[in-house]
Amino acid sequence: MSRFLVTAPIPALGLELLRAAGEVAVLPEPPDPAALADLCASGEYDVVLTQLGDPVDAALLARAQVRGVSNFAVGYNNIDVPAATSRGILVGNTPGVLTDATADVAMLLILGTARRVIEADSMVRDGRFHGWAPELMLGRDVSSQVLGLAGFGRIARATARRALGFGMEVLFSPRPPAERHVSDEELGEFAGRVRQVPWAELVQRSDFLSLHVPLNEQTRHLVDADVLARMKPEAILVNTARGPIVDEQALVAALREGTIGGAGLDVYEDEPRLAPGLAELPNTVLLPHVGSATVPVRNEMARLSALNAIAMAKGELPPHPVNP
Ligand code: DGY
Repeated sequence: MSRFLVTAPIPALGLELLRAAGEVAVLPEPPDPAALADLCASGEYDVVLTQLGDPVDAALLARAQVRGVSNFAVGYNNIDVPAATSRGILVGNTPGVLTDATADVAMLLILGTARRVIEADSMVRDGRFHGWAPELMLGRDVSSQVLGLAGFGRIARATARRALGFGMEVLFSPRPPAERHVSDEELGEFAGRVRQVPWAELVQRSDFLSLHVPLNEQTRHLVDADVLARMKPEAILVNTARGPIVDEQALVAALREGTIGGAGLDVYEDEPRLAPGLAELPNTVLLPHVGSATVPVRNEMARLSALNAIAMAKGELPPHPVNP
């Protein structure tokens, strides 16, 4: 019988699948790194179903007695995949199912920052709304503005689709900071509707710069003080990918000094902590990493992560492998 360790409660649908396939231990909340490493080394579990904040590093993997790690997320920067591969430990993730939900949040952050939704909402709730006025709470248009997409994978494309619907001009850089040419064939439905530009140009030309790259050594602090200084003074930075892609301290300084106009963030460099000063800035919309947080999406993530775990426990390749 397969034995599964689930590091935090997940939607019932996933747990039911796992329970039908074996014994399941569900922790009430993610364990601290040392406890997680001990649990994985205990020999009591075949597969561990992890959350994106669970660090599955080389030291943990060196001691681990599990066949697989099934991440309840599409991103897997919390897992040292090469170390897992070298030890024959399979890794799975949940791609595809959260694309539209996350692109919705990217668009929400674009619109929310442009139209100052948090400031406006607070004004009404605080009793500071004294009636319509010609210059009350003026924001920015998004139509005809340039949306720059850093990355051009599934979520970036879904964001492009939405932005084109709002009349935005869409530019992209597929794998910043490295350059790679995307052919018209690869562009598919976007051929002739969006344009590839070098990363440096994307930074300079974007009115809204939205990040859609995975977190790795090439993209850590992709947006640093230097990049922020090269953005337009009124530009808005949107991050629904991973916090450490942005140097958050440099971002706070840039927002304070007016180097850029605003930021819409769903992810943070040291989640759930925020860089000092970030929460006090009015020109930000700050969400608690909810890109994929809809009931149907989380159910699908539970289903995929359970199916991955069940396959790995049997020593089979999971339906969504990260390390084939
Ligand atoms: C992911 O899956 O990587 C998201 O950040 C959370 O759903």
